[in-house]
Amino acid sequence: MIESNFNKDSLTVADSVIKGRDNDAFDNKLRPRSFDEYIGQKEVKANLRISIEAAKKRGDALDHILLHGPPGLGKTTLANVIATEMDANLKITSGPAIEKPGDVASIISNLDEGDILFIDEIHRLKPVVEEVLYTAMEDYGIDIVIGKGPAARSMRIALPKFTMIGATTKLSMLSSPLRSRFGNIFKLQFYTDDELGEIVKRSAEILDAHIDEFVSLRLARAARQTPRIANRYLKRARDFADIHNESFITEDILLETFKRIGVDELGLDGVDREIISLIINKFQGGPVGLSTLAAAIGEDKSTLEDIYEPFLIKSGFLERTTRGRVVTKMAYRHLGHGLIG
Ligand code: ADE
Repeated sequence: MIESNFNKDSLTVADSVIKGRDNDAFDNKLRPRSFDEYIGQKEVKANLRISIEAAKKRGDALDHILLHGPPGLGKTTLANVIATEMDANLKITSGPAIEKPGDVASIISNLDEGDILFIDEIHRLKPVVEEVLYTAMEDYGIDIVIGKGPAARSMRIALPKFTMIGATTKLSMLSSPLRSRFGNIFKLQFYTDDELGEIVKRSAEILDAHIDEFVSLRLARAARQTPRIANRYLKRARDFADIHNESFITEDILLETFKRIGVDELGLDGVDREIISLIINKFQGGPVGLSTLAAAIGEDKSTLEDIYEPFLIKSGFLERTTRGRVVTKMAYRHLGHGLIG
């Protein structure tokens, strides 16, 4: 239950978050708007298409959806696509931005029937906020307490039938009562080189940059199977092409871009190489604990765990063991080290 002192007409948390979003998040030009434009994630798309078609046929709101997976794979993008396909409005906020139970009431009561509320980093919701979401998601209502002391009574406010899309990079940190309120749970997968190559070509067209099949695939191979990274490299390569008065992003321009930004042919950046090289040189190849490693490279644990490790592990440079992180033979070879022991 929550206090009844919220103001429906005040600026909602969702609004304030949208206003405060950075340029990158606002860089919506490259975002696909429909399933036809959205490349990759075939399974997720196929399942969503069915749910969306069924909901539309019934004239009903879509079931709540939970999207999880590493950063940059397109969770927000997919929420945008779902909203377009449902002809629904999308409000965007994030777990940490919803500070108190009253914020939930304020955000949801400002939605229209069928609208979609996207909560990014949903694993970071406070428990008191989560509690309120349960009834909001399940019964489309919020219980509020009116008055104080013995005269206090409880009243349920009806909310519009909305759809919540939650996104998280850490599914395990979501409480099971919250998880169980989502009718659809989808894991976004890393992209194949071919899919990423297609994304690069599509983005290049939107940016009015020219790049051929071979160079887009080369760029894609270094982009850690992640569209956000591929698009970032594309923009940097376009800068270099512009500087050289080249109308095409040639292979030479791409390689110069990679050299400048410190990305090597396997897509490792400076921090990746620093992690591997630290484990080899300071910790004899491992095992080394996450906290020790994070302190040694000066990053926080979650950045190391969420941003850097998944790629290093997936590409076979690093292994997680019960005793800590260990580099592989491939990592030694890549950095040109002789193997120890
Ligand atoms: N840009 C970013 N992600 C994309 C995707 N999955 N498909 C097409 N363009 C994208």
